[in-house]
Amino acid sequence: MADSFSTALAPSALSRLSGWLAHLGVSPLAFDDTLSLISPLLTVHRLHARVVAKHRETPGANTLVLQAGPGFKGLQPGQFILFGVTIGGVRHRRAYSPRIVDNRQDRFAITVQRQPDGLVSRHLNEHTHIGDILEIDQASGAFTLPTAKPPEVLLVAGGSGITPCMAMLEHLFQSAPHTKTTLIYFARSRQNRIFAAALDDLARGWPQLRYMAIDSGVHTVNTAAKPGDTHQAVLNVSLLNQAAPDWLHTPTFCCGPAPLMDAARQLWCDAGISPQLHLEAFAPPKPSGDSHAMHTVQIERSQQRQRFDAPGDQTLLVAGEAAGLTLKHGCRQGICHECTCRLLSGSVRDLNSGIRIDGEGQPIRLCVSSPMSDLALESLN
Ligand SMILES: Cc1cc2nc3c(=O)[nH]c(=O)nc-3n(C[C@H](O)[C@H](O)[C@H](O)COP(=O)(O)OP(=O)(O)OC[C@H]3O[C@@H](n4cnc5c(N)ncnc54)[C@H](O)[C@@H]3O)c2cc1C
Ligand code: FES
Repeated sequence: MADSFSTALAPSALSRLSGWLAHLGVSPLAFDDTLSLISPLLTVHRLHARVVAKHRETPGANTLVLQAGPGFKGLQPGQFILFGVTIGGVRHRRAYSPRIVDNRQDRFAITVQRQPDGLVSRHLNEHTHIGDILEIDQASGAFTLPTAKPPEVLLVAGGSGITPCMAMLEHLFQSAPHTKTTLIYFARSRQNRIFAAALDDLARGWPQLRYMAIDSGVHTVNTAAKPGDTHQAVLNVSLLNQAAPDWLHTPTFCCGPAPLMDAARQLWCDAGISPQLHLEAFAPPKPSGDSHAMHTVQIERSQQRQRFDAPGDQTLLVAGEAAGLTLKHGCRQGICHECTCRLLSGSVRDLNSGIRIDGEGQPIRLCVSSPMSDLALESLN
């Protein structure tokens, strides 16, 4: 009842009301708190979604179907949504790649692969149930198909990296089925292959889809195979020539573990077509600095100064936490900006871009920066 009431309410009207009330001294979050007494999905500043279905994809991955409130603006296939999950009184934020459900802009599904010792992925797999409310942000991210659909698209996925690719596949099948589409999907085994049955069905019912599934170095499904084709089990030029003969001229989207993404980056670079390759990393690259180089980090927050030592091969967030500090953070992936500090002096390496940043007051993110010298920082959150 509250949910149907919430979907009937115009978010713009609620935002306007919140704006008026702000002039009267009612804070946006207090306004949200009041709305959430009617339904948590009504909030306009901190968005929420309700889990309406949950099912197992593999022994280590579950799909959650979520109903968002009227303030959610929808998503493009391939984008991510940041979720806020409170565990043991601490709010953590992680990104998951949603798929549109029932062609509705307020309903989507995420599939979460449980990581060993993973805090949020375990919580979503094991302790999240139908009826639970999760905090969400609007969808964002640039790992999306071009607006004008190209005649051919290549998707390369590894493990849980299939999730944004599946969102794109479902979208292409429904809205541009004439697009020649190739999916190369690496997984540990058929049992661990997320969406295995759905992908088999899609390949059977969509003549324009070539589908090659490679489980632990063995081809198991290959709708692109011709008689006499030899088996190629790693991403290399022969595999690409076999799966997608026109790959040199095809926009390609790749998401998976670091070795797969590194291989793709190298192949596209060697072929001189790097701009055609779009990559989505689920985890930032590991710092490759010197483990013996110890740097002193000073961080100022609310006029309090803290100090810790950070080796060159750790992120500043990990090193600070290892020293016993509680540093403000959210996603640990360079996305939410909650760990942003101003770099007053010293140099860091930004792990996402690989670029060295020399302190002149620029913002840096502790979770994706490793130290290259002693540092002075000012927390911006
Ligand atoms: C844009 C984007 C989209 C994403 N979409 C999805 C998605 O659709 N489905 C999904 O399951 N995950 C997705 N992720 C990954 C997700 O955000 C979390 O990083 C993941 O669920 C692990 O979080 P955690 O809290 O369980 O692990 P943490 O507690 O943060 O880490 C625990 C351990 O697991 C390791 N670890 C963390 N993430 C990974 C990983 N991806 N692969 C291997 N080891 C890892 C860490 O190094 C650490 O040792 C996405 C990430 C990004 C950046
Ligand atoms: S914790 Fe989210 S950007 Fe660093």
